[in-house]
Amino acid sequence: MSLKERTKAKYDEQWASQDERASAQRRKSLSMVSDPLLSMVHPLSGKVVVDLGIGTGSLAFRAMELCPPKRMIGIDFSGPGLCVARGISRSERFKDMDFDVLRADLERLPISNRSVDVVLSQATINLLPDKAAAMKEIARITRSGARVAISDAFKTTKCSEGGSWEQCIGGAVTVGEFSSLALNAGLIISGQVDLTQQVKSLVASKKWDWPEFVQHNMDYRGFLLLRS
Ligand SMILES: C[S@@+](CC[C@H](N)C(=O)[O-])C[C@H]1O[C@@H](n2cnc3c(N)ncnc32)[C@H](O)[C@@H]1O
Repeated sequence: MSLKERTKAKYDEQWASQDERASAQRRKSLSMVSDPLLSMVHPLSGKVVVDLGIGTGSLAFRAMELCPPKRMIGIDFSGPGLCVARGISRSERFKDMDFDVLRADLERLPISNRSVDVVLSQATINLLPDKAAAMKEIARITRSGARVAISDAFKTTKCSEGGSWEQCIGGAVTVGEFSSLALNAGLIISGQVDLTQQVKSLVASKKWDWPEFVQHNMDYRGFLLLRS
């Protein structure tokens, strides 16, 4: 199985076992990590927003709770995740908001050039074998001046080697490598937030089932990138 096939199988299984209620609980728990990231792109009113690797929507629906955008598009290759997200979008809270999902690979986005104002992504970029392709796709679909908020686990010198790819550890990069990926795509880092302690406390309280993050001594950071 390729890295992508293994990743898809892992998340298909994880999201198939999570209903809308469990997803709402995940959204609530993860808000201590999502909110600092979302504050970097707030307010979203009037904006076309894309969430890359939406899963069941913990970041996208939190963003919609805080400030409904003009349009929210969630992209993921996991059918079960998108199915839960679609269900949540029909609930009383979100049914009048413009929300859509697209099933696609993040390295080839089915979105037209320069049509997006804000890109969001939480705990997903590490799962992509070709991160350079994904960053170029982000640059392609965004308008000049667009804002991109990405958070994920990062490797530092204190991290232990190895770690599973599907758990966002094996494919993690350093901040230096991430900056180069962004810069090569035409995206400039204009802010960052260290969320390591928040993730550690979520793992310790079993609100985020991600023990590998602590075992491998990873950092978790959020970045604001600007599209030049
Ligand atoms: C760790 S989950 C994070 C989900 C969500 N962002 C959250 O914070 O709850 C990563 C998501 O990325 C998706 N994903 C991983 N690789 C992908 C790819 N190449 N194309 C599309 N989606 C991908 C997975 O299916 C999964 O839903």
